[in-house]
Amino acid sequence: MASAVSFYFILLLVLCLLVTAKASDAGSLKPDYYLCNCPEAEAIIFSGVQKAVAQEPRMAASLLRLHFHDCFVNGCDASVLLDDTPTLTGEKTAAPNANSLRGFEVIDSIKAELEFACPGIVSCADILAIAARDSVLLTGGPVWQVQLGRRDSRTANKALANTSIPAPTSNVPKLIQKFQNVGLTREDMVTLSGAHTIGKARCATFNARLQNQPDPTLEKLLLTSLQMLCLNGFSNNSNAVANLDLQTPIIFDNKYYKNLLSGEGILMSDQVLYSSGGSTEALVKFYTENQKAFFENFKVSMIKMGNIQPLLGKDGEIRHNCRFPN
Ligand code: HEM
Ligand SMILES: *[C@@H]1O[C@H](CO)[C@@H](O)[C@H](O)[C@H]1NC(C)=O
Ligand SMILES: *[C@@H]1O[C@H](CO)[C@@H](O)[C@H](O)[C@H]1NC(C)=O
Repeated sequence: MASAVSFYFILLLVLCLLVTAKASDAGSLKPDYYLCNCPEAEAIIFSGVQKAVAQEPRMAASLLRLHFHDCFVNGCDASVLLDDTPTLTGEKTAAPNANSLRGFEVIDSIKAELEFACPGIVSCADILAIAARDSVLLTGGPVWQVQLGRRDSRTANKALANTSIPAPTSNVPKLIQKFQNVGLTREDMVTLSGAHTIGKARCATFNARLQNQPDPTLEKLLLTSLQMLCLNGFSNNSNAVANLDLQTPIIFDNKYYKNLLSGEGILMSDQVLYSSGGSTEALVKFYTENQKAFFENFKVSMIKMGNIQPLLGKDGEIRHNCRFPN
């Protein structure tokens, strides 16, 4: 036993020497970035996510969404985590985020553990990328190796958060445009929308489909139940929440796409992927018949999204507290 342990440490040491030797170029992300300076990083993050998801299954969805809203605004730099201060306006109050993003406390507690284990080493942006992967894994989805070495921004951009994150009322060309703006394709858009196989949405984000002349693509029984949830009597219940996947709301699977075929997408931006007769319909249909292909493509698109404009080398910093620049 003792010799097995020391063999492991010698192996790690040799690997570290090799890795450090070739790590002089800070030009890109790599999966083994913390191998030597914080080998327990991924285990600490996994157990933090696991604990949070065990307490509240929806947290997996909330953490996955945080990574998306981070990456679409000036790249994956943890700008989404910065609080408002007298000298900095964060992104938390931007239209797509306010009263909506969740999971900040989970990230805080993971960061605190990492600062205890290896101070000043693991970036908040990397925590978001790993937590997103772990959230998908823990809800039954695919698993992938996360590219690491992102650094954290010292600033945020609320105006950009307002405009660069797609809105749930968008049509297909608009959705494609917002993804293209950050270097992602139409196929990435359809594939990553499959994240809506978990989590919830507030009535405020799909109310418009229920009122006056309700959206004809919305299945009738679902329409009635959403009207009851959201427009209950005289109160206008914009903060009530509905499951984005009404069949398996806490399981990562391809039911999201099946729902679209039966008119049971919750957001306008979900249903149009199938119902607008456009360029995305075929891929939706394909994923309903092939969960394996959805999983494979989801991994690839998540890695692509995680690669959007990272801060590398000496750019940015490693925040000590994800809510504030150092
Ligand atoms: C295609 C464009 C997208 C639009 C228009 C969109 C819009 C939305 C909206 C409006 C909500 C509900 C928010 C609320 O009610 O507070 C939501 C939730 C969610 N979104 Fe998206 N989204 C898109 C793409 C994505 C992507 C790419 C991901 C991740 C890869 C993602 C992951 C999620 C998750 C997991 C939830 C549930 C969060 C929770 O329960 O806390 N979405 N999205
Ligand atoms: C962002 O959107 C919010 C809500 O619509 C608006 O109040 C705010 O002025 C916008 N902020 C910026 C900086 O564009
Ligand atoms: C609910 O609120 C929305 C937006 O605030 C408004 O447009 C709509 O007319 C209201 N509907 C009802 C039934 O009160």
